[in-house]
Amino acid sequence: VGTFSLVVVSNRLPVDHEDGPEAPDGTATDVWRTSPGGLVTALEPLMRSSGGAWVGWPGVADRSFEPFTNDGINIVPVRLSAEELEEYYEGFSNDTLWPLYHDVIAAPAFHRETWEAYVTVNKRFAAAAAASAALGATVWVHDYQLQLVPRMLREARPDLVIGFFNHIPFPPYGIYAQLPWRKQILHGLLGADVIGFQRLADAGNFSRAVRRLYGYPTRGVVIDVPTSEGQGRSGATRRVIAKHFPISIDAVAYEEMARRPEIQARARQIREDLGNPKTLMLGVDRLDYTKGIGHRIKAFGELLADKRLNVEDVTLVQVASPSRERVETYKALRDEIELAVGRLNGDFSTISHTAISYHHHGYPREEMVALYLAADVMLVTALRDGMNLVAKEYVAVRFDGDGVLVLSEFAGAADELKQAILINPHDIEGTKDAIERAVVMPKRERTRRMRALRKKVFDNDVAAWSASFLRTLTGGAAVQAGIP
Ligand code: G6P
Repeated sequence: VGTFSLVVVSNRLPVDHEDGPEAPDGTATDVWRTSPGGLVTALEPLMRSSGGAWVGWPGVADRSFEPFTNDGINIVPVRLSAEELEEYYEGFSNDTLWPLYHDVIAAPAFHRETWEAYVTVNKRFAAAAAASAALGATVWVHDYQLQLVPRMLREARPDLVIGFFNHIPFPPYGIYAQLPWRKQILHGLLGADVIGFQRLADAGNFSRAVRRLYGYPTRGVVIDVPTSEGQGRSGATRRVIAKHFPISIDAVAYEEMARRPEIQARARQIREDLGNPKTLMLGVDRLDYTKGIGHRIKAFGELLADKRLNVEDVTLVQVASPSRERVETYKALRDEIELAVGRLNGDFSTISHTAISYHHHGYPREEMVALYLAADVMLVTALRDGMNLVAKEYVAVRFDGDGVLVLSEFAGAADELKQAILINPHDIEGTKDAIERAVVMPKRERTRRMRALRKKVFDNDVAAWSASFLRTLTGGAAVQAGIP
């Protein structure tokens, strides 16, 4: 165990626990599987190279695990009870904050008991992080589940350098203001030295909320926060930086995987198994209402109905990986999507051609890379998304310079990936036009766009992201301490 000079804290660990087969002596064995989601994809490379510790929840209720090492990463599991999971994770994190921060696409629930659980669990994460941090260590806290941790850590351990990164959008004030605990959350976040966001607009929304609710002055990315309550305007202040740092992926690792002969063979096999369609379209998402899967299916169905696309020529492969299945909104979404897929296939599939090949599974990274390689058109139609790393993965994999990305302007990735075909997924006509355009796009235009997209993704990879955040964090702390 011991303490570390870099500690990352996130709700989810990079691995989820599963019960393995019984050992010969009758004892239970542990199996650890890669966790879902963009946060884990982005942080894994940093943690593998830094030798730091990763504090988080192991994906199951009521189980305690000693710290251990997995694939070169030091793992510090935090125990959560079944009740805490229901109230803090399913409740406040995913039934209140998630919809509130994603433009209230679903209605957020506001319950006082789940807020209490959120406070309790944030305290536990803060205590675990404090116990793993060496004197003067850097602690980097992640995402909406843990927004109170920066303040709790600062109070317990003033020696630490504390960063926070929000992987999801930060909402405009008019939406944020609905939250009954809006001041407590801001207070929690302002315990950090640097608060990172995906988009410029998110950082702006946050600074505006701070001005409106606390009246602290902001100058560009700098916020002057009083060092103790009640000192008013004349008291001492700390400088907090609130700035955007668009997250990315390990682009080289994705490309390397795509170049492996067995992955390329698998990509060919996928096309063959689907009857070698002229155009293979692909959607890859966690099954989440923010991803616009229903809008995508609607546009595709109308294109088939209008005969602008023909089921003999086009197949849509939709991977919808299971997510937050105990939350009601997610259950309802699954029913809705599966009804839409079933209807569309009933209406348009033939004995030899299936319109939508739908998969409610998570797949290993190798299989995802083969799918990206096989797909002529990638559809990212999110209604709101912090970044959307699937879009960047698709681009990184296409070393052949081919493939067309259709990308929602409401995904953070649209700020950088301007050479994609950008769409407003609420505009079904516009989305249909964009899909048709992607299907018929001449090779020269595809190559030109993909080359520009690849440059963006390879120039701003995840190593550049974490280096830039950590540089701002440690540089900022040096300024605080009076070090030039
Ligand atoms: C998004 C969030 C992450 C989360 C992931 C998977 O990427 O930003 O914090 O871990 O989704 O969701 P889950 O609820 O399964 O952890």
